[in-house]
Amino acid sequence: MWGASTAGHQVDGDSHDQWTVWESENAAHLAETAKRRIGHVPAWGKIEKRAMDPDNYISGRAVDHYNRYEEDFDLVKQLNLNSFRFSIEWSRIEPEEGQWNEEAIEHYRKYIKQLRKRGIEPILNIWHWTHPVWFEQKGGFKRRLNLVYFEAFVEKISNEYGKDLKYIITLNEPNIYAAFGYVVEDVSSHHRWPPEEKNVVSFARVYWNLIKAHKKAYRILKKKHPHLQIGVALQLGNIQAKDPHDFLDKSSTKIMRYLWNWWFLRRINKYQDYVGMNYYFTDYYDSLFKRTDPGALLSDVGWYMEPEGLYPILVRAWAHFEKPIIVTENGVADAQDQYRRWWIEETIVAMERALSQGVDIRGYFHWSLLDNFEWAMGWWPKFGLVAVDREHGMKRTVRESAKWYAEKIKELSK
Ligand code: BGC
Repeated sequence: MWGASTAGHQVDGDSHDQWTVWESENAAHLAETAKRRIGHVPAWGKIEKRAMDPDNYISGRAVDHYNRYEEDFDLVKQLNLNSFRFSIEWSRIEPEEGQWNEEAIEHYRKYIKQLRKRGIEPILNIWHWTHPVWFEQKGGFKRRLNLVYFEAFVEKISNEYGKDLKYIITLNEPNIYAAFGYVVEDVSSHHRWPPEEKNVVSFARVYWNLIKAHKKAYRILKKKHPHLQIGVALQLGNIQAKDPHDFLDKSSTKIMRYLWNWWFLRRINKYQDYVGMNYYFTDYYDSLFKRTDPGALLSDVGWYMEPEGLYPILVRAWAHFEKPIIVTENGVADAQDQYRRWWIEETIVAMERALSQGVDIRGYFHWSLLDNFEWAMGWWPKFGLVAVDREHGMKRTVRESAKWYAEKIKELSK
């Protein structure tokens, strides 16, 4: 599968979930503290004005994908992609506890149908960090007893759409969600997310409950639809030692690899049909858990760009689990579109190397199809294969790198 990836809250528009509440409560503060939080990113000179405007931190109409999805699927087709990853918004389907919104349920039915009509395989993601406000008010995933609500939602998805799908992702990046929402302390960082709880015990509870949530979802879905291929999309880092011969560098690297990359996947291994991974960066460790600058180029959001770092993760994930792998997200924030083509090219090389060694890669999903709302960073980061001009009627423009990607896929699929 060659595809692109999106998430409801980031593209749909007019969402009402725990993130939109947080956005309106925090936009002014995020704008005021922008320089302190993101003044270091390479794009700062160009994005300063935007980043200091509270409006940047409001998802609002997003890119109106909820209404324009057919036009967007035509773009998917135009880019020669044969698959598409999207997320269902729980807050639309069950806006109040126990009340199912038939219109929203119908919307996603049509949505899946329109993908199929174009010969595009839909990859449905059940939860991409956002959920109804009422669920958050009950304590969200922090309370084990709340899992029954998630189960009811999964049951609904299973009944409504299960037979029309082949692939399901239950949870997107539970590791990032738990870490950024429940432990990250650094006020100067853009990694402080709702509910901004700084409590390791809460973090552990959320992380543990997400494992449970996944297992339950897996059981519910498989029982009714044994044909479904189910997994998660975990954020995997290419974690390396600055000096592979240094005892401390080497030890912290090993520990971090285990805790960040493999711990969750090991817990759910009997409940996953494929290993789903999102890859964005390499982290080099110097002495005890100190991250260090590898001197690589930085993307607009200040992440080291090492697309080839996907290769070691693919090989390791294969060695650990021997299950098919889907690269559920991978991409680069690059408003000028100067690195994206190189990034995709290197990524394909990394996948080809892994494939040649027997790693079973089933799909690659570029993040993202469209420019979209980049969570606590807001609107300025541009991850899209397709640019969206929100000031001018949400106009979509295919970037040059995307045209290249489309040709490359065609060539590789011959
Ligand atoms: C998330 C996306 C996000 C992307 C770029 C991934 O961790 O799943 O929602 O937009 O990274 O930051």
